[in-house]
Amino acid sequence: MTTQKRAAFGSRIGMVLAAAGSAVGLGNIWRFPYEAGNNGGGAFLLIYLGCVVLIGLPLMVSEFLVGRRSQANTALAFETLVPRSAWKWVGRGGVLTAFLILSYYCVVAGWTLEYMLESATNSFAGKTAAEYASNFGAFITNPWRPLIWLFVFMGITHYVVVRGVEAGIERASKIMMPLLFILLIILLLSAVTLPNAGKGVEFLLTPDFSKVTGSTFLSAMGQAFFSLSLGMGLTTYASYFDRKVNITKTALSVCSIDTLVAMLAGFIIFPAAFSVGIQPDAGPGLVFITLPNVFQQAFGSMPFLAMLLSLMFYALLALAALTSAIFLHEVATAYLHEEFAFSRTKSASIITASALVLGVTCSLSLGPLKDYTLFGMVVFDCFDYFTAKIMLPLVGFFIAIFVGWRLDKRLVKEEVTHYGELRDGVYKLLIFFVRYLVPAAILSIFLNELKVFS
Ligand code: ALA
Repeated sequence: MTTQKRAAFGSRIGMVLAAAGSAVGLGNIWRFPYEAGNNGGGAFLLIYLGCVVLIGLPLMVSEFLVGRRSQANTALAFETLVPRSAWKWVGRGGVLTAFLILSYYCVVAGWTLEYMLESATNSFAGKTAAEYASNFGAFITNPWRPLIWLFVFMGITHYVVVRGVEAGIERASKIMMPLLFILLIILLLSAVTLPNAGKGVEFLLTPDFSKVTGSTFLSAMGQAFFSLSLGMGLTTYASYFDRKVNITKTALSVCSIDTLVAMLAGFIIFPAAFSVGIQPDAGPGLVFITLPNVFQQAFGSMPFLAMLLSLMFYALLALAALTSAIFLHEVATAYLHEEFAFSRTKSASIITASALVLGVTCSLSLGPLKDYTLFGMVVFDCFDYFTAKIMLPLVGFFIAIFVGWRLDKRLVKEEVTHYGELRDGVYKLLIFFVRYLVPAAILSIFLNELKVFS
């Protein structure tokens, strides 16, 4: 373990925004709408919100308290709090998951850079919905173009991680988060006034429970974990929180901001999709196919404005992806740096190089390598499925058991109530959730998916 002074966030607002920045990313704007679209819309939204409140929030407080109390990266945090035990494997599981997600996350993040370029060169102008769909398909199956963007995006992530916590991550988050929010509101107002937009709003607000299956629950839970950054080393970020941070309130802010952004994205994408006749279950291309339409339809009579807003949107999506990618990279880098005493630069370089190898494989699996499948899925989908739907909830399950059953109750109470500042009731509620409800919910969603109950 390192003996030098650990990095830390410099200001309270910077810390909340950096934590929110790690959560808000492609998960909210790219993944949430297509998962909701694939799983029937309204019913998925309700189950998702249930997962955020019942599983997500208690687990986020748990991850925060493990990180802040141990002042160590995810892998060492469990070892620090309960030395010489097998609990360290929970932390290591989180590090591995963060690393695997990083590798395919940067592929999608690279797509946002391509779309920035397309916006800046005004190449969306005058196209039809079918052309947006076929252009997207042609781009992601191209053997080299997505790879260039993958390398560019990973390079930027590497640079920020090497520069360190406060200078890089905090500054980027402080500028990006408010701007992203403003642009989402502009897009929301544009999308809901498009012809036929009402059908999209209805799709999200009218739950159709006949479409709900065990997989809907697994998808909603996986989405909540992915979007809130749970089970992937959030503990490492919390280790940069100082004593003054009220972790329960911070977790509430981060969960609320993250959920709000996902809902905004949903209420932008579905009205936009229905208005041009694109099916909501169009999959991972949904945000890349529908949004160019919104810009062209809503602002087509003002081509410069259409171009500018489109460019701003993809730039902000790229930045939101960047703060999350920095977080994922940081989790893995901090592990190598503190566990093996490698320098930060060396640790970051090892992570960058190995994530690139996996990222290239994921990217090519959508095009030239699409005939090679694992468990019936192309490599990209396989990575997404196993990390989001299996590894994250599994790590989350053990974190709940650790905090609920293994950690010293006094320590948990001090952290949750912020040394008595919040009422005892808050602690009692949280400990009830973490001990019983969270593990039971995760377990039953897994068993339901395995059809044990049917
Ligand atoms: N939580 C991050 C996101 O949603 C990984 O993009």
